[in-house]
Amino acid sequence: MFEIAQPPDLDKIIQLMGIFKADPREGKVDLGVGVYKTPEGLTPVMKAVKQAEERIWAAQDSKSYVGLAGDPAFLDAMRGLILGDSVLPSRVASVATPGGTGAVRQVLELVKMLTPDAQVWVSEPSWPNHAVIIDHLGLTRKSYRYYDAATGGVDRTRMMSDLADVSPGDLILLHGCCHNPTGADLTMEDWNDIAALCLKTGAIPFIDIAYQGFGDGLEEDAAGMRDLAAQVPEMFLAASCSKNFGLYRERVGMALVITGEGKPQEVAVGLLASMNRKNYSFPPDHGARVVSVILGDPVLCTAWRAELSEMRRTIIKNRKILADALRDLTGSDRFGFLAGHRGMFSRCGATADEVMAIRTVYGVYMVGDGRINVAGLTPGNIPIVAKALAEGIA
Ligand code: LMR
Repeated sequence: MFEIAQPPDLDKIIQLMGIFKADPREGKVDLGVGVYKTPEGLTPVMKAVKQAEERIWAAQDSKSYVGLAGDPAFLDAMRGLILGDSVLPSRVASVATPGGTGAVRQVLELVKMLTPDAQVWVSEPSWPNHAVIIDHLGLTRKSYRYYDAATGGVDRTRMMSDLADVSPGDLILLHGCCHNPTGADLTMEDWNDIAALCLKTGAIPFIDIAYQGFGDGLEEDAAGMRDLAAQVPEMFLAASCSKNFGLYRERVGMALVITGEGKPQEVAVGLLASMNRKNYSFPPDHGARVVSVILGDPVLCTAWRAELSEMRRTIIKNRKILADALRDLTGSDRFGFLAGHRGMFSRCGATADEVMAIRTVYGVYMVGDGRINVAGLTPGNIPIVAKALAEGIA
């Protein structure tokens, strides 16, 4: 069968990881895949994670199955972290998934099964895998304009004008915070406008939250999403622990459905668990257990929050240092927007050709759409990156 099969189109972020690795140059800089680096250029295991792992290693006496939905302690702790007290727990159904991507997939597959004609509205631009999964499942994908490259901010007028065309039951896919790839986030007013739109049209919000704590803080980053959750009758969420717990390769995520209390919630619980069973049976446990141990222990949780705050401060500092260096080099404020963005990513404004030229000439790697991983900047590489952007972008 593989004689006639076509090779897949490789995801551009994953492809870039291979190209970077193959480059023999000493001073090359990786601003591709979204991985946090310390000022020393390392991605260490978080201390709170190590401590939780030690505890698990000492106490765990079985690797037997837990449950199709995952460990209730993980689901409970994560629901609190994500939703706070914005929604009654009895309205929430959830399952553990392999990473945030697993959660995106489970939510969309559920929607495809229940309402195959629902259209899924995706920001232009968005994380490329969103479109890939939606298309793979055969759902109808629509885009809404999101980013204004001229200002480096959200193009709210065009966004709301595009979203005015949603139909009842359509999904509006939103980034909970730290928009990937642009770094431009919604304001509380935007979240409220979207809530009003959903209430008026019957469209359902679907929040992908993969960077909670990387923007302005754990609570601050969740505020808009919680405000929306408190207003709408139904909502989907996909959450990831890859970045804020640094658990990338452990694949820790969670899919949530907010619905009515009683039967709708019970049905949603059952459907999510059966979706896990169909796709991979039981979700992975180790990373999820690390998270629940941390969130369930006040001392460990405080230590984790402090480490997360340190990562956030480093990212914000990187933004400022890069923007300042670019101001000095260009004698203008044309890159000033980089300091105002939030989270791991920003679109720096390079065209596809400029991205390639910057890679060749300066050894600085970014995604083809000009997305840079600001969390990959270090005091050592910022001068190289600043020079590359100042000289390489028209
Ligand atoms: C990214 O956007 O770089 C990360 O979310 C990693 C990934 O899986 O693409």
